[in-house]
Amino acid sequence: MPASDPWWSFALAPDDRDDADARRLTDVDGHLLVNPPDEQGRLTIGYPDYLHLDRLLSAQTPASTVPDERVFIIIHQLFELVFKQMIFDLGVVARTFQTLLDLNDGDFRAQALESLPDERGPSPFWRPSMTAAARLRHSARTVLPAMMQYIGRGEDDDVLFSTLEYHRFREFLVPASGFQTAQLRLIQRALGKSPVLGLHVFPGDTFRQHYTDCPAGHVALGDPAVLREGHARAFPGADDPAHGVTEIDDRAHAVLARLAPLATHTHAPPPVRLIPPEEIERAALRLRATLGDETDADATVSRFRTDLEAAAQQENERRTGFAEARRGAQALHDRYGRTTLAFVLDRLAATDAALHAPTPDSFLTVHRKAVRRHVAGDGGTGGGGMPYLVTSQRFLLPLFPALVAYTDLGAAGTDENADRW
Ligand code: HEM
Repeated sequence: MPASDPWWSFALAPDDRDDADARRLTDVDGHLLVNPPDEQGRLTIGYPDYLHLDRLLSAQTPASTVPDERVFIIIHQLFELVFKQMIFDLGVVARTFQTLLDLNDGDFRAQALESLPDERGPSPFWRPSMTAAARLRHSARTVLPAMMQYIGRGEDDDVLFSTLEYHRFREFLVPASGFQTAQLRLIQRALGKSPVLGLHVFPGDTFRQHYTDCPAGHVALGDPAVLREGHARAFPGADDPAHGVTEIDDRAHAVLARLAPLATHTHAPPPVRLIPPEEIERAALRLRATLGDETDADATVSRFRTDLEAAAQQENERRTGFAEARRGAQALHDRYGRTTLAFVLDRLAATDAALHAPTPDSFLTVHRKAVRRHVAGDGGTGGGGMPYLVTSQRFLLPLFPALVAYTDLGAAGTDENADRW
């Protein structure tokens, strides 16, 4: 199959994956993309060229002679590689949902309600998104927090990264910050958090001091002046193969809505929770508290409140349209909990919690602990520091959970025996 973008050239249709020729990627001229036999029919590929190690292992340029800066580069690159895998896995699930939605009612129900696999494993249709969803949760719950240890403490409480040494190179990196990770922003959009990317909640002074195109006032997470050349990664266009990732939450709700006729309960499920004005006010008061006696503090807060009110109103309108999805979610929970669809939805919800929840082991909490360990006071290389990190994780992200019509009905219980195959 000619591969415009090999990374995204994947096949969900079982027949395509069964056919050895169809599943082998080629370039536009039909030449095998990887490991084409030479004139004598020999296969010459080696481990270094399959992994492009020349490019990968030459992509680390430290700013200083401080040894510990190397692990600081490596850990951020490891995160970005895992984020890349997570985006791909979200792409597999998003395309599976779209394939489901394109089916007629009969086929849709047959596929959507396929039971959890036995020893023989799931049907070829569900196999890719079952491993993808399982990997998503594993990445967020196990891999990311474990990697963060590289800048913390290891076994026997060994110090793996020195705060003193960190401060010997940190200033060379201003205003670069993990706040500018575009891939995590795309993952957050997939998990229902697009509205947060438009909120002007991050102090822009440090960026404005160095970036000429940085707008006045507080900046938004998704601002082009913040994400720079990564902006297109967080906001892939309609013709970008990653675009489906931005629609995964809406597609999941559309799949649930098509299950609504299966909800035979007499009583309707509790309505989808809307964002109440109190939580908007709470977030605005929180931001105000972090601004202290800054001159334009009130203007900053009023703009933020307006942003959040508009985002909440749009989100509440969206949720009001989820009545059918809610009934479908109720049917899935109560009658079809042991399906592959519930397995995939449960792991998407678990991924959201493992990344964002204000719980001790989530990625953002483990990160905040690392910041607390290495940075005295509230500063950050990007200028937001701990005040921003707390505002975002405790007051903003929880307002926009993934799969809002499904998640608070409780996990459908697809854990036990899930890994039998
Ligand atoms: C010594 C280690 C680290 C320190 C001191 C640190 C510090 C900070 C600070 C202060 C912020 C807030 C924004 C700012 O003011 O720049 C931030 C944001 C962020 N950092 Fe780190 N960081 C560290 C390591 C990492 C690592 C290894 C990652 C992995 C990708 C990471 C990912 C992030 C992300 C994603 C944000 C944005 C969080 C959000 O918007 O909710 N950081 N970091």
